[in-house]
Amino acid sequence: MDSNTGKITLSVMTADVGGFIGHVSSHPDILNTAKERLYNSREKRVIEDFHVLRCGDDIGLIITHTKGVGSKVVHELSWNIFTACREVATELKLHGAERGLLNESFKGSLVCMGPGVAEMEFLERTSEPVVVLMCNKTGTGAWNLPVYKIFADPFNTAGLILDAVMTEGFSFKVLDLASNKEIILSAPKELHSLLALIGSTERYLITEVYRNSDAEPAATVSSQKFSMEAGEATEMCEPALIIRCQTGFPTAGETMEAFSFPHMVSGWMRGAHAGPLMPVPFYEANPTRFDGPPRVIAAGFQLSNGRLIGPHDMFDDPSFDETRRRASDITDYTRRHGPFRPHRSPNSAAEIASISLVLEKLGDRFRKTS
Ligand code: F6R
Ligand code: MG
Repeated sequence: MDSNTGKITLSVMTADVGGFIGHVSSHPDILNTAKERLYNSREKRVIEDFHVLRCGDDIGLIITHTKGVGSKVVHELSWNIFTACREVATELKLHGAERGLLNESFKGSLVCMGPGVAEMEFLERTSEPVVVLMCNKTGTGAWNLPVYKIFADPFNTAGLILDAVMTEGFSFKVLDLASNKEIILSAPKELHSLLALIGSTERYLITEVYRNSDAEPAATVSSQKFSMEAGEATEMCEPALIIRCQTGFPTAGETMEAFSFPHMVSGWMRGAHAGPLMPVPFYEANPTRFDGPPRVIAAGFQLSNGRLIGPHDMFDDPSFDETRRRASDITDYTRRHGPFRPHRSPNSAAEIASISLVLEKLGDRFRKTS
């Protein structure tokens, strides 16, 4: 605990430092490199505790510490771990090892250096259950629908009508990627305005959720990353989501319930296709079919004075088998569209690049209509 505030910080840093095989998974040597370094930092009391996870080819460093959100020490530690992992990936010639991190030296923060950053600081309750979700082959917009359901839809979350604290609702911080401005909207009062924005998942992203009764942080998303291609802040690929659960927050079960519907998300093959988000246990987070379909994993922890008790693999539950089967059916159906919409997403970087190449090749063969 922070001796001044008594607060703990939960930081989840994610990065793709090289895929095994292609963009399917991450090599055990990479995960071990991260674990060894975090183990040493915990021994030196730089951090309180850690866990290393992977979803597809993304690795996630789950760290507890007392240094607050945006701590230079924790960000630099994570940066050094990711660069060490990248060195291992380069040595093994893993796929795309050169792409996930900026080729620059650390400047004080991980934000906009390549990795995703989701952090939350709070006073640990007598019981502090948290769920850390990681996805692969999709962007930040993928969280909008489940986060809305968890914190604003009583058909998903019974606590919104049955828990006295939760009946006051939750407030959502929404980022507009086009203007780089943010707004806070309170549900249920401003539900319709909220939905009008966040349904547009490529532009408006829910980045944080607060409890209306006391402004306690309830959820946070790694919302922005530096686009290696465009050289600017853009929708984050493969972001993480942290959710606090139980007693005044949605229960662990209400959190998981939002993923029982395999909703359509954008990303998948070459970041240019829409497909269903499939909730899977850790060992099934290997998107091999057409580089997908997009996956989500959920790691449950109880915090105990900063210690991460867990993880519990939350989607390792047969009650999600039907969701996975439905996601496979939707995959079959969607794939039949091949290069046609709505499977192929409009305006992806891959589509824009390929259409300009085709147009260049066809040159002046286009004629005015008569
Ligand atoms: C999408 C993804 C993959 C790659 C695809 C092409 O997020 O990671 O679908 O876009 O496998 O990869 P490269 O360009 O590395 O051959
Ligand atoms: Mg990746």
